[in-house]
Amino acid sequence: MVEWTRKIAQKALANRFGTPLYILNPDQLTRNARDFIALTGDPASVAYPVKSNPSLAVLRVLACLGCAADCAAEQEVRLALMAGIPYSSIVYNSPVPDRALLASLYLAGATVVADSEPILRDLALRVAAAPHHGKLLLRVNPCEPVEYLHHEDWQSLTSHSSSAAKFGIPSEELPGIAATCPLPIDGLHIHVGTQMDHLAPFEQALALLHHLADEIAARTGRPLSLFDLGGGLGIGFQPGQQFPSPAAYVEALRPALRPGCRYLVEPGHALVGNAVALLAQVREIKQIRGRRWALLNVGTDQLAKVTLLHWPHQILGPNGQPLPSSGPDAIGGPHCFAGDVLLPQTRLDSLAIDDTVLIQNVGAYCFALANHFNGLLGPAHVAVDDSGECPTLHQRAEDWFFEPGSVGYTWPHSLAGPGRSLDPALVQTSAAPTSASTPPRTSTRFSPSKNWPRTTFASSCRQRARSASSRCRSPFASPATPPSSPPCTALAKAPRISPSGAPASP
Ligand SMILES: Cc1ncc(COP(=O)(O)O)c(C=O)c1O
Repeated sequence: MVEWTRKIAQKALANRFGTPLYILNPDQLTRNARDFIALTGDPASVAYPVKSNPSLAVLRVLACLGCAADCAAEQEVRLALMAGIPYSSIVYNSPVPDRALLASLYLAGATVVADSEPILRDLALRVAAAPHHGKLLLRVNPCEPVEYLHHEDWQSLTSHSSSAAKFGIPSEELPGIAATCPLPIDGLHIHVGTQMDHLAPFEQALALLHHLADEIAARTGRPLSLFDLGGGLGIGFQPGQQFPSPAAYVEALRPALRPGCRYLVEPGHALVGNAVALLAQVREIKQIRGRRWALLNVGTDQLAKVTLLHWPHQILGPNGQPLPSSGPDAIGGPHCFAGDVLLPQTRLDSLAIDDTVLIQNVGAYCFALANHFNGLLGPAHVAVDDSGECPTLHQRAEDWFFEPGSVGYTWPHSLAGPGRSLDPALVQTSAAPTSASTPPRTSTRFSPSKNWPRTTFASSCRQRARSASSRCRSPFASPATPPSSPPCTALAKAPRISPSGAPASP
């Protein structure tokens, strides 16, 4: 388990930045990245899956190390470019790609992954007349299922490489498709799944890619030289959970790499998982039939992976010591959802209302899966070093997630945000409606023109934006200036295609 989280001055960070609060340790992230870079020695062989944590703070650390980015959507491509990752280090891979974007990125020098034969043919049509600059990989769907050793119950949700999965091109059809493809195929991609608990699937996946490459080369006379092994190496969320280390992963795969070929890996959990923790606060303690519950101010809104998959993570108490993972008590989130449970078994003897706690290993698929359930807003993000010191604000807490003005509604009062109390005017009017402009409290659909002055929301929004930015800016170190990023030219000039399938003239 990681050490850096124990050194966090929880109370001081909570007082300064509020809770909940994401805390990134760039030192831990850098160590993890170097472990994976050791596979080939080339930082660009580590293509960070932006989907696992689309935080610019994370992306910028990895961009500075020279890592690449695995992107599944235009927004992720933009973030990677903004962080300073060049087109040549972008991998674009989605089962439902934006086909115009796929073509543009290919022409701009990125690596694109074709997930099916129709996508491949469409790409060939779009780029037919243009010089090819990028690399083209075919995603493999193996015919043998990839299985967990200790966690069979994860199979249906987290194994991407099962023969019944929706991803990629069936391995048995792949050589034929490659042989008739009008575009040169540079290599192959496979992703076995997530939270893989042993190394055999990666070794088998690599052997399968090499075997398919040999078959394709035999048919086309053109050797394949780029292999992307995807991500999938798991991490423990609780002490005692056994997963191979990145070093063991590298040691197992390196002897099988072929000289003269390039290899990519896309670790999400194992790269960023233990480099981020989430600081939260105990808001309520209650007892139900002898079981004590501590209810925090964060739950399924940020930790859907934890609650929905039943993957409880180790939580540190306010003194930096782990809370027990057995006992009669439990820790839950604030939501109106029975599954909103963060630690189903623990002992709460040492916890009191207002205490802080630190949820560990939340770097992957937590912020990425965040939602606004029960109207909760996204936390701020800070970075600290290995000693838990030098906090730097990287992203402010969210202020709004839905702007009623965008659909023609207005709000009559400036409502309270997190940590603020309700506007006294609202409290007063809701207790005793006096004015004709006051909306009925129970009504959710109303006509702004009939009931509320249109200007109220806009001006209250501006006021909130002003007060939010002054609140956040003054006490914190401002985020470092981002490195200048290449212009998103490929994104701007995505080739369009006509209904007949021919590339449309610009
Ligand atoms: C194509 C691809 N690469 C990499 C990853 C990262 O996987 P993990 O976080 O398990 O390492 C994923 C996750 O789903 C993925 O779909």
